[in-house]
Amino acid sequence: MNDNIVWHLHSVTKKNRSRQKKQRPCILWFTGLSGAGKSTIASAVEQKLYELGHHTYLLDGDNVRHDLNKDLGFSDRDRIENIRRIGEISKLFVDAGLLVLTAFISPFRRDRRMVRELVGENEFIEIYMATPTKICEQRDPKGLYKKARQGKIKNFTGIDSDYETPEYAEVTINTAELGIEECADVIIDYLKLNQIIFPPEIKI
Ligand code: ADX
Repeated sequence: MNDNIVWHLHSVTKKNRSRQKKQRPCILWFTGLSGAGKSTIASAVEQKLYELGHHTYLLDGDNVRHDLNKDLGFSDRDRIENIRRIGEISKLFVDAGLLVLTAFISPFRRDRRMVRELVGENEFIEIYMATPTKICEQRDPKGLYKKARQGKIKNFTGIDSDYETPEYAEVTINTAELGIEECADVIIDYLKLNQIIFPPEIKI
């Protein structure tokens, strides 16, 4: 770090921005295999939050890899850097007062913990999409499992690259057992129960 760079404290704070939006900012961190339903459920949750009047932003693995992280591949090292950058961006969005939804495989426990530790207590909600590998491979929405089995894609998560299942996820969902709306409702109920979102008549 350059000694000549000094952190500047600005007058409008995270608290101000959050109060204005009537919400407690946090990261809803979706993790799980490719095809587990991360993007689909994150999108359904964002839709519901939007309809409830909340301010959100959804960061999605495939999309972010088209622009900000287009220089990164799928080696362990690149995945770690992918998650580090997303963690820092999510932290900024939390500071902006937003409910941030992220949909990345994020296969390594250490990296997910690193992001958890970047933000305050109760600001990181790990949502494990526990859809069994077999089902993800059957769905194979992008045909990538097939290519990985044929050896055309290397380091594919669940085939020749590890996925470390969460030990203490706040929410665990198996999309093979519930429909999209039901999965989204489980998460919305969690947010209400834990007072992350409130009915509009309640002031925070
Ligand atoms: S992560 O491991 O670094 O968190 P990320 O969520 O950004 O991964 O990207 C995963 C997406 O990239 C998958 O949904 C899939 O569409 C695509 N992809 C391409 N190659 C691979 C690979 N080798 N392993 C996993 N996903 C891959």
